[in-house]
Amino acid sequence: MAKNANLGAAKNAKNDEFYTQYADIQKEVNAYIEYNPDVFRGKTILLPCDDPEWSNFTKFFAQNFEFFGLKKLISTSYAIESKKYKTDWQPTLFETENPMYNVEKSRIKGKIFTLTHDTNANGRIDIDDLQWSYLEGDGDFRSAEVTALRDEADIIITNPPFSLFREFLAWIMEGGKQCLVIGNMNAITYKEVFPLIKDNKLWLGTTDVRWFYQESTNSPLYEAAHSRWFTNIDHGMRHKPLQLMSMADNIRFSRHKEVKGINYSKYDNYDALEIPFTDAIPSDYNGEMGVPISFLDKYCPEQFEIIGMSLFLATQKPKDLPKSLQGGPAFYLKNENGYKRQYPRIVIRKKQ
Ligand SMILES: C[S@@+](CC[C@H](N)C(=O)[O-])C[C@H]1O[C@@H](n2cnc3c(N)ncnc32)[C@H](O)[C@@H]1O
Repeated sequence: MAKNANLGAAKNAKNDEFYTQYADIQKEVNAYIEYNPDVFRGKTILLPCDDPEWSNFTKFFAQNFEFFGLKKLISTSYAIESKKYKTDWQPTLFETENPMYNVEKSRIKGKIFTLTHDTNANGRIDIDDLQWSYLEGDGDFRSAEVTALRDEADIIITNPPFSLFREFLAWIMEGGKQCLVIGNMNAITYKEVFPLIKDNKLWLGTTDVRWFYQESTNSPLYEAAHSRWFTNIDHGMRHKPLQLMSMADNIRFSRHKEVKGINYSKYDNYDALEIPFTDAIPSDYNGEMGVPISFLDKYCPEQFEIIGMSLFLATQKPKDLPKSLQGGPAFYLKNENGYKRQYPRIVIRKKQ
């Protein structure tokens, strides 16, 4: 393998081990509770790709088990031997002090943790009532036993391994489940993901997630820019229409120098109007418009419909396009110097 490929593989393996901060989970989940206080009531939640000894997902949902009115919480972890990123791993006291501890299984088996009732009879259901055992296999989400847990659950919540995001999402969709999962914002450009967003079967959550830790809550924080929550659980932000100005007012008053005093233009190779900023979408334009990908953070399906994305719509290039501007599918604007290749655009249209 070339040196760069090695480095890339090591980086991907490391990124697969980024753990989520408690406050990030809390902030996001609160948005769904605010919108619908019963969103989790009577539901079974599965947290795959987790590990309650290291991860906050199980802690957070176990702590809120009664408040959310959960029926059952299940979390599964992935065997240390199967992880691509190797660390000086030691089983925790939680595991070694338990009569079920098995030195052999500890390294090669996944674990399952379940919470349904007050096992220690202290009058409340919380993390101390979690019961655990080793799985038959290593806890791979694609295994038959974890897939059976998916089928039992109503909602799948986790930060899955970054390198398996497409597969993970497909696994959720195949099970027809509700989900709340973390992924890189770039995932919206994947051919497996974008159609779900276009058809309102998946959307962005309400907050972004930037800082993660590794293995132990004492580890330094690592920055993974552009991470977002992806979900098909409803929240209030997606029903707030954008407040927009007319085209004439944008040209007169826009705070962007690229808009103020300048006419909007259409792409050369696709029949849509280029909109360089989400807040510059003209309220009175009824045709197709190309907007930056960040529009999805503000997307209200009652206000706009999504037609597609430049990556999939720009099937033709301008005929006289210089070699220097060639590349993958993109929209082009014609200007006095020739052409300008645009960043990826989402094409939308105002709902009538
Ligand atoms: C990005 S980390 C997130 C951990 C935890 N959910 C959190 O957010 O704090 C993803 C976890 O999935 C595990 N993993 C990797 N491949 C897996 C697979 N095929 N099946 C299940 N888990 C996997 C990794 O070892 C890692 O522990």
